[in-house]
Amino acid sequence: MDKWEELKSFVYSCNRCRLSNGRKNIVFGEGNINAKLMFIGEGPGEEEDNTGRPFVGRAGMLLTKMIESIGLSREEVYIANIVKCRPPNNRVPFDDEAKVCINYLRKQVALIKPKIIVCLGATAAKYVIDENIRITKDRGVWYRRGNYFIIATFHPAALLRDESKKKLAWEDLKKIKSMYQSV
Ligand code: URA
Repeated sequence: MDKWEELKSFVYSCNRCRLSNGRKNIVFGEGNINAKLMFIGEGPGEEEDNTGRPFVGRAGMLLTKMIESIGLSREEVYIANIVKCRPPNNRVPFDDEAKVCINYLRKQVALIKPKIIVCLGATAAKYVIDENIRITKDRGVWYRRGNYFIIATFHPAALLRDESKKKLAWEDLKKIKSMYQSV
């Protein structure tokens, strides 16, 4: 078995936190495992839990449009989350849940080796970039960590709740597109 399949089967049998109790499906992630660009969200919602696929609900449809707006497709990028099991009532993952699960995400990143990582929303930014990050203030800024260029932008669910944020999100997407073309 290759390392990717090994990791997947390990994650599929995970019971390391309480979120495993309520899940219907593990949402491992999907897309191109050789992607140059990786999106990281917070955690599965209801439709993701039902299907085992990330970002397939309303926010997911908007994410698909965001990806397409920079000339890419979902199949070309990789999409994952901080936690792989749905938190009850879509609450924000607790710190201990996120800190256990992010080890799987780190392994995914190490195998995919994307050039660019986009954190969608505050939870992804907090665990991937810095625990004190403020999405409203610090989005749209590039961070260099090792070989990765990392940026945070609004979560598509936040854009659905507040359309006025879309203009800023578009600025971030343009930066991501130009970085994608240059790396
Ligand atoms: N929101 C997320 O953060 N991730 C998903 O997979 C779906 C909705």
